Amino acid sequence: MSNIEQTLSIIKPDAVERDLQDQIKSEFLKKGFEIIKEKKIHISKEEAEKFYKVHETKPFYNDLCNYLSSGPIVVMALQKRNAVIDNRNLMGATNPKDADEGTLRKKYGISIDKNSVHGSDSIENAKIELDFFFKD
Ligand code: CMP
Repeated sequence: MSNIEQTLSIIKPDAVERDLQDQIKSEFLKKGFEIIKEKKIHISKEEAEKFYKVHETKPFYNDLCNYLSSGPIVVMALQKRNAVIDNRNLMGATNPKDADEGTLRKKYGISIDKNSVHGSDSIENAKIELDFFFKD
């Protein structure tokens, strides 16, 4: 029985701006993730709004969409056994100040907005988010 999964990872503008993408990618590889697909893009605010639609009623939605569209990002399809949960664990808590030692958000995150990485939160959302960026 195989539980090889794919999940979407985004290296956010704050991390790309600080040129951390290679360092963050090597953290994924060290943990056994394969980077199956990857592209560096700069999305529009409208695309960010579509991507984060699940958060549209939240008070932080507008800032979040402005932020994700503020500069280049790196989007990746990561693959491994239990990729969704393993990526969530590697990223750490949403707010870097609550994240455990050794997690990506603890190491690289600046604030709850500039938290360096996004990762799909379920297998179902991983499929939706991977399609969003990689369906051709
Ligand atoms: P991410 O995993 O990309 O999903 C939604 C993002 O909203 C989250 O990371 C945070 O960067 C951002 N955000 C801003 N404020 C909040 C908040 N109060 N709670 C959760 N996420 C927030």
